[in-house]
Amino acid sequence: MQKLKIGVLGCANIAKKSVVPAILSISDFELVAVASRTAEKAQEFANLFGCEAVEGYQKLIDKKDIDVIYMPLPTGLHEEWVLKALEADKHILIEKSLAMNYSSAEKMVQKAKEKGLLIMENFMFLYHNQHQIVKQLIAEGKIGKIRCFRSSFGFPPLPSNNFRYNKKLGGGALLDAAAYTIRASQLFLGNDLNVKAASLNYNENDIDIFGGAFLKNKNGLFSEVAFGFDNFYQCNYEIWGSKGKIIAHRAFTPAPDFKPLITVEQQEEKFDIEVPAENHFINILHEFVKNVRKQNYKPKYDEILNQAKLLQEVRDIAN
Ligand SMILES: NC(=O)c1ccc[n+]([C@@H]2O[C@H](COP(=O)([O-])OP(=O)(O)OC[C@H]3O[C@@H](n4cnc5c(N)ncnc54)[C@H](OP(=O)(O)O)[C@@H]3O)[C@@H](O)[C@H]2O)c1
Repeated sequence: MQKLKIGVLGCANIAKKSVVPAILSISDFELVAVASRTAEKAQEFANLFGCEAVEGYQKLIDKKDIDVIYMPLPTGLHEEWVLKALEADKHILIEKSLAMNYSSAEKMVQKAKEKGLLIMENFMFLYHNQHQIVKQLIAEGKIGKIRCFRSSFGFPPLPSNNFRYNKKLGGGALLDAAAYTIRASQLFLGNDLNVKAASLNYNENDIDIFGGAFLKNKNGLFSEVAFGFDNFYQCNYEIWGSKGKIIAHRAFTPAPDFKPLITVEQQEEKFDIEVPAENHFINILHEFVKNVRKQNYKPKYDEILNQAKLLQEVRDIAN
């Protein structure tokens, strides 16, 4: 099978620390090049990973020897570079959140459809076995019928020059941290959720620093999510059922060597399950490759649009 030739747009921390090492560990990919706004940064990154350094994003997009672009740019830059990359016939694996708003997500998905290319949001936690184990516990009746889903993702303040505090670049806790809790809500309650209530609290620069939302599906099941950039660290979800409760700890960001815990509580007992460590960055790359090879694009378009719809509803209702 031919390798997918991949280029990286932007020397982001997440690319350096997690995604590019994962790319290099998979035989389906050949890392061809990395682009940065500056030649020096591109060269430094390229030296680390043994690929070509390119100055300027458009030059990488124009390369004929690249099939796939991994795009870890801030959300505010996505629409411009996604449309250019799709125009150049590249499949795209893109960091969350894809879009600043729903209409921007629609525009990018529409272009991907027209071009017959995959665009997929890099929610790697979805491909960690922790959540399959939770699903299995629910299917075995360990907590009875699901009554509600709750999730929190938040952390203490980041350095003030981080792009997450820049409105134009798509800063704010909604597009960053809330995105995980809302994606996880869909994993357990399905795709027919709507946001019924929401709160976003903004700082002096109009950046949403913390917030929460209440989502409900057609069967009346609901999700409560909370998120923030100036919060005590939380990274979990719980599913409360008629007969018990499951808590998934460190649900969104387990490092490749970390064994996340699942706690199951029932009337008579409470026990922990230690989930084997695994690298969900590698897992999601396999999912990406599978979908490119099968030309199976629609489910990923639908996932993107559903997620963007819910984020937009939170923004609209909170404002
Ligand atoms: N899936 C995950 O687990 C995960 C985890 C963390 C972050 N993320 C996502 O990955 C993306 C990158 O996050 P990060 O924490 O790695 O950020 P980062 O280190 O700040 O990287 C962002 C990159 O964007 C490029 N960029 C272009 N214009 C920029 C501007 N005006 N200001 C800042 N950067 C600019 C820069 O690349 P050059 O300077 O090389 O051009 C920079 O290295 C975000 O969308 C974030 O939400 C995902």
